Amino acid sequence: AAPTSEKLVELAKRRGYFFQSSGAYGGVGGFYSFGPQGAALKGNVEDAWRDRFAVAEGNMEIDAPTIMHEPVFEASGHLEGFDDMLIECPECGASTRADHLVEDNTEYEDAESLPIPEVEEIIAEYELVCPECGAGLADVAVEDFNLMFATNIGPGDAQPGYLRPETAQGIFVEFPRLKEYARNQLPFGVTQIGRAYRNEISPRRSIIRTREFTQAELEYFVDPEENEPDLESVADVEVVLYPASEQNEEDGEVLETTIGDAVSEGIIGDSWVAYFLGVAKPWYESVGVDMDRFRFRQHLSGERAHYAADCWDAEGEIDGNWIELAGFAYRGDYDLSKHAEHSGDRFTIFKQYDEPKTVERATVDPDMSYLGPEFGGDAQAVVSELETLAARDRAAFEGDTVEIELEGETHEIPVEHTGFAVEEQTEAGEHVVPHVVEPSFGVDRLVYTVLHHAYREDEVAGEERTYLELEPEVAPTFVGVFPLQGDDELLAQAEEIVADLRGSGLSVTYDDSGNIGRRYRRQDEVGTPFCVTVDFETVENEETTVTVRERDTTEQKRLSIDELAETLASIREG
Ligand code: GAP
Repeated sequence: AAPTSEKLVELAKRRGYFFQSSGAYGGVGGFYSFGPQGAALKGNVEDAWRDRFAVAEGNMEIDAPTIMHEPVFEASGHLEGFDDMLIECPECGASTRADHLVEDNTEYEDAESLPIPEVEEIIAEYELVCPECGAGLADVAVEDFNLMFATNIGPGDAQPGYLRPETAQGIFVEFPRLKEYARNQLPFGVTQIGRAYRNEISPRRSIIRTREFTQAELEYFVDPEENEPDLESVADVEVVLYPASEQNEEDGEVLETTIGDAVSEGIIGDSWVAYFLGVAKPWYESVGVDMDRFRFRQHLSGERAHYAADCWDAEGEIDGNWIELAGFAYRGDYDLSKHAEHSGDRFTIFKQYDEPKTVERATVDPDMSYLGPEFGGDAQAVVSELETLAARDRAAFEGDTVEIELEGETHEIPVEHTGFAVEEQTEAGEHVVPHVVEPSFGVDRLVYTVLHHAYREDEVAGEERTYLELEPEVAPTFVGVFPLQGDDELLAQAEEIVADLRGSGLSVTYDDSGNIGRRYRRQDEVGTPFCVTVDFETVENEETTVTVRERDTTEQKRLSIDELAETLASIREG
């Protein structure tokens, strides 16, 4: 039998979930459109995410631009280091991700974390070939390829800009303003749901790896010394964990445990990361991810992004492969410190002490007449070196001379010329750089996984049937309404029911064409939880009733029209 993915991609196109975009012009790799059903499903998943990670947690949601100018990405490190490994075929010119080539054809599972020369060696050793034309790649160089899409902002001497590769930076750069909205109190969280762009070398598996996709991200700012999550509230959440230590063992296994036990046994090191894993697991279940095909996997040390101190991925299983659905990273003070350094703005929170504190401050007040001639006139550089040294290492001023380095040369300055002193000062508080915990969700991949995990085939009355067992909360169409025949009275009654159900906030599809069995099958394939049929019994009886058919069991019940909207709406609410 064909793998579920193949059948799902075909169904998705036929029923309006998703399809390659710009098909009329042949399409281009890595860009997909969501059709009417897909856009509705994706919207419902985003709403569910917003309810849980923004509203229920008391976090703020923002909506920042998708294009940002160069200084942002210089500071964030993306310009320098947001690269994948590219190998270009000398015969046919096809571009391939070198780490994927290695992973697909050798026993190496984490080639992304290997240095380029090692990847080149493996390609040569295994005599790997171009997946497009079969030409040998043994002598071909692997190169770093930056994944950001570049553009120009404005005409003339345009400024370079980039389409954001993650929604996160839009939150970090606005921190100096966002902290005001949070009344300068830690902890607080900011969410954003929006598009991100990556010029992936080889987009693959339909909407799982694309060049334009949607992320739902939460940046949670904490004071690492004072703030603690409410671990109690998630302690009993059962999880399947695949820690780095197990992945490093030959016969390493997943661990079935609870969030509470995983923290007390040190399996999850950071309590904030643990907290968000505990929030995420039941949420994934609520939108329809199969919990028997779901786990949290810790990143291996070589696999972590440039900013992450620890990271766990949520993974879903698709046709025997584990797909990364979300990353939960402890980013420390990396992002805010970088933006502070590059922008000169205040990416800190002023932390008031309970009572003013008297603190010792080391200061320098150098003898400029001594520094000037001695250092070729660059006295200011010396002052700044001495200031940094005094703040960092007072002991350096305890001898007769102080050593500093200037442009690779060591200089010795007599201590009496530095004007070093330790003074007492009274301070009301201090500026601290918050640490960041980041749950980062991919929405498109999740939509794919939800559909894949909902895909069912069975037999109804001797006929094969395909249906999507979607959770009512996210199903794009909630109810189909069918008049059994083209009779005027039935049509009028059906139209009234449609208006009534839509008035109750339900998403309704109306269908009066083809035989009733075919209309049911169509809605089964869309994953519509209920179908309502208006027949002669509806209009002839004293008490007006309709047939309500349930998607998964195909069971039918008669229900009075008076209770129909209310009954269905309460199921939709959960
Ligand atoms: N701010 C952190 C960050 O962007 P990431 O692991 O690079 O982390 C987060 O991305 C999530 O975005 C991934 O877990 C994945 O679900 C989704 N994602 C990343 N690249 C993608 C792509 N090319 N196509 C679809 N989804 C992608």
